[in-house]
Amino acid sequence: MVLVPLHPSAARPAGMSAPSDAEPKAALVSAPVITTTSSIDKPLINLLRGWPAPSILPVAQLNAATADVLADQSVVVDSLQYGPDAGFQPLRESLASYLSQVFSAYDVPNDPNRICITGGASQNAACILQSFTDPAYTNCVWVSAPCYFLMCPIFEDSGFAGRLRAVPEDDEGINVEALERGFREFEPPAQPGTGGPYKTNLTPDRKAYRHVVYVVPTSSNPSGSSMSAKRREQLVRVARKYDALLIADDVYDFLQWDVPRADAVLANKQGSVALPPLLPRLVDVDRMLPRDDEDEETEKKYQGKQFGNAISNASFSKIVAPGFRTGWVEATPAFAYGLAQTGSSKSGGAPSQFGAATIAVLMRTGELDRYLRETVRPTLQWRHRLLTQAVQEHLSEFLEIKCGGLPSGASAEVTTYGGYFLWLKLRRTDISAAAVSKLALSVENLVIADGKLFEVKGDEKSAQFDDHIRLCFAWEDEDKIVEGVQRLARIFRDWDALQEKGLPSTGALEFK
Ligand SMILES: Cc1ncc(COP(=O)(O)O)c(C=O)c1O
Repeated sequence: MVLVPLHPSAARPAGMSAPSDAEPKAALVSAPVITTTSSIDKPLINLLRGWPAPSILPVAQLNAATADVLADQSVVVDSLQYGPDAGFQPLRESLASYLSQVFSAYDVPNDPNRICITGGASQNAACILQSFTDPAYTNCVWVSAPCYFLMCPIFEDSGFAGRLRAVPEDDEGINVEALERGFREFEPPAQPGTGGPYKTNLTPDRKAYRHVVYVVPTSSNPSGSSMSAKRREQLVRVARKYDALLIADDVYDFLQWDVPRADAVLANKQGSVALPPLLPRLVDVDRMLPRDDEDEETEKKYQGKQFGNAISNASFSKIVAPGFRTGWVEATPAFAYGLAQTGSSKSGGAPSQFGAATIAVLMRTGELDRYLRETVRPTLQWRHRLLTQAVQEHLSEFLEIKCGGLPSGASAEVTTYGGYFLWLKLRRTDISAAAVSKLALSVENLVIADGKLFEVKGDEKSAQFDDHIRLCFAWEDEDKIVEGVQRLARIFRDWDALQEKGLPSTGALEFK
């Protein structure tokens, strides 16, 4: 049974009162509406979109922080001018200090030289590839599958079209044996212009790695899963051996929470949700794990500098607001410096200077931490519970929760979950997820993400997901999340009858 109230007034996050006229109007404006050709007379419910709900955007906090920046004579000019290549220094310092506290279990140094401010995880992925790969030398980009699909075009644009390779995941994360086999066996296809490094300008501050590996180690999109500590260590070891750069997409690290047992009656959203104990990031593992002689040799061979083999590509998109397009990288000082030498940052400094100055205020005043603790995590924890309970009640006959279900039974322990998504496997083998999503749209005006979307572009056959769907619990209001599940359950219940009628066609969807 779903234990939560469904009235819209219950959908407001803790600590956020009803919008008043005094609040900026932006708080009331919703995001662009998705256009579909569905003619169903029901409001659209979009459980595909992986955006934060408008109701939890920190409008009031940002109003105060931007006013603070503009009124502060000591920062206003710097914040509005071109800035340093590695980004707005006070934000680098705040981040170094914050990360050293949050990850204190792993002795993270409080060192701003390990931080480079970026334009967010997506834009920075392109900068990383510009500065640390050479399509004539780097073999290919290995992508943990299922993957965050919008990274694929970034890799393709960087010269790796046709050279993305899917590496399957198991319960502990990316399959390291399959990855190592791939490293050993992969022969780059003959291509015009290949045969040797052509980016002769990378040295001495940057280098081309032989391989790139893209993973979302924590609260992955789409699978929701987190890589085990053991697998993180195995991955770093294998990356060192083969001169691979691990790009860890760490955008959901601070969006993790405890998942109480299914029978724990949560009458309402918690007022405050602390971060559970965190696993070491790949960048922490790479820093902590002693290098043996062979690793040292590999590093020396390629540059003599310690660029490392893992970086944390993080973002404020999910913890402040996507519109800021601001993020950061944590890496060795040599890597962070090299990244700041990317041509687009040399021209005018790191992106998002004013955004960085604003976020620096949120960090300095403790507002960011408070907002995460009192608004974002309670909202996501509550919505995750709501969606999971609704799936268990209405869809368990048709779909299996692969990760992120509520622990049940007297001996079950509280678990940790995070991110924005629930990844579900179809029980009936004769039904394709793509067909379900088409029917959901045309019959129920419901948008869901079918698993094929998360296959690695150009290597779809190596890891196929047409038996999965992804549902997002971050975007829609709480009552719509439950109604969306009920609509989806009707599609499954009526499946055979709907087939007899033939599949209605649908129009184009904006996949974001
Ligand atoms: C795994 C993952 N990485 C990156 C992003 C985008 O990050 P940014 O807005 O910083 O480019 C998203 C957004 O959905 C995501 O899910």
